[in-house]
Amino acid sequence: MLIAPSLLSCDFARFADEIVRADKAGADIMHLDVMDGHFVPNLTFGAPVIKKLRKATSKPFDVHLMISEPHRYIGDFADAGADIISFHTECDSDIDSTLSLIEERGVKPALAIKPGTPAEVVLPYLDRLYMVLVMTVEPGFGGQSFMPDMMSKVELLRREITARGLDTLIEVDGGIAVSTISTAAKAGVDICVAGTAVFGAPDAKEAIDKLKELCR
Ligand code: DX5
Ligand code: ZN
Repeated sequence: MLIAPSLLSCDFARFADEIVRADKAGADIMHLDVMDGHFVPNLTFGAPVIKKLRKATSKPFDVHLMISEPHRYIGDFADAGADIISFHTECDSDIDSTLSLIEERGVKPALAIKPGTPAEVVLPYLDRLYMVLVMTVEPGFGGQSFMPDMMSKVELLRREITARGLDTLIEVDGGIAVSTISTAAKAGVDICVAGTAVFGAPDAKEAIDKLKELCR
């Protein structure tokens, strides 16, 4: 299991130091939540902030766009140093052409689905995707409870990825903790995003080690 700490739960006044802390604690990927106050009822940060943070670590930047019109900003996030860009199937942009914009920039494309969206929505795009992000909470805020019902979507995607002989990764995001991560692992998840469970823990390394151990 790869662990992607969500920086949403870090101390924003020490943003770069928090990335270094997550890196040293054994984070595999840095998960950066971009919110526009329109697609979700919360605001975070954008490409200029990510660009400044890029030099804090060599670990991949997984940029989760919770914004209404991702196609307008793909170039900015690519320039900022995103390695993976996820956007939501429920957004207002055209999915096919937004994926093309990401591909053209040599960034790894991913599609994210909210809890109310069936997994079938991503199937027409699966062959082009580096990753599918299955939300296990309503996007917008950290610290919510994991929705175990979402595991049927993970299982469906896992079957389809195997049947097509793809290596598309499955990521879950929201409510991942010591009490929930084994459920995600059993369903076939490759990457777990964890905000509160990592940055809210007294020791981030211990927290990440424990999460990984529970998946073995
Ligand atoms: C929610 C974000 C998540 C969030 C997860 O909209 O996409 O990445 O930070 O936080 P926790 O792990 O605390 O549920
Ligand atoms: Zn996220």
